[in-house]
Amino acid sequence: MSQVVTTVAELRAALAALKPARIGMVPTMGALHDGHVSLVNEARSRATHVVVSIFVNPTQFAPNEDFDAYPRTLDADLKTLDDRAAIVFTPTAREMYPEGFATGITVGGPSTGLETDFRPHFFAGVATVVAKLLIAAMPDIAMFGEKDYQQLLVIKQLVRDLALPVDIIGVPTLREADGLALSSRNAYLSTEERGIAARLNVILKEAIAAARTSGDLRAAEATAIEALWKAGFAHVDYVAIRDAETLDHITALERPARILAAAKVGKTRLIDNMAV
Ligand code: PAJ
Repeated sequence: MSQVVTTVAELRAALAALKPARIGMVPTMGALHDGHVSLVNEARSRATHVVVSIFVNPTQFAPNEDFDAYPRTLDADLKTLDDRAAIVFTPTAREMYPEGFATGITVGGPSTGLETDFRPHFFAGVATVVAKLLIAAMPDIAMFGEKDYQQLLVIKQLVRDLALPVDIIGVPTLREADGLALSSRNAYLSTEERGIAARLNVILKEAIAAARTSGDLRAAEATAIEALWKAGFAHVDYVAIRDAETLDHITALERPARILAAAKVGKTRLIDNMAV
């Protein structure tokens, strides 16, 4: 079983006992699924010991979002991790944001547009908590999923800009047999919604094929948005083909590109992305 610690001081003491071994960190919000486990396994293959943080970060949820409803399954999460993680850090909100907390980190560059158009404060919440988690643990490497591709680029930017001494490793998206990306929020889906959700990855693949054949990226995006509506998505926030490194707008497939999408099935908001 992992050692469970709840304060930054305890985390540092537990890590000090393991050092100088190479430490890998996997920040999560819990409700762990096989996607999270793939990050932990990747960390295990690259480091001697793994620390997993489980913290449902209030500052990355807007008031109208699902902070209260977000699944909290700590006992099951600890069983899932079993002995894969040496340390599990489960701080309280008060530990992460003590009385009088007044610091925020905003990252520009890749945080512009896409998720930010619909969740304006999201990346400031993510960047601040991830900076605090990385500074608390000071791991050698930290793993983030390509599932949240814009988040991965924002964290790489944060670490580069602040010269934090940690390598950020992106891990490919783990998917169900029908291609739906694993997500803690999939637990919200009814059977009918689950069927609709599975169309997202298929429609993105079709859009990639269309973009490659026609070269008309805007037309491929528009067709995908239309297809999502027809498939039964309640709302489509965006389907966008962007530069894979910067998320800048592009008009042709001359450099590595990424297609990114966010859409709602019923009340559940799903995101996905793929290399074009
Ligand atoms: P959470 O949604 O719990 O995700 C934790 C990590 O697991 C993220 O890096 C995410 O990209 C990765 N992940 C989720 N689903 C995945 C899948 N199907 N395949 C591969 N990796 C997957 O992302 C967050 O938490 C938070 O924003 C956090 C970074 C912890 C900051 O609060």
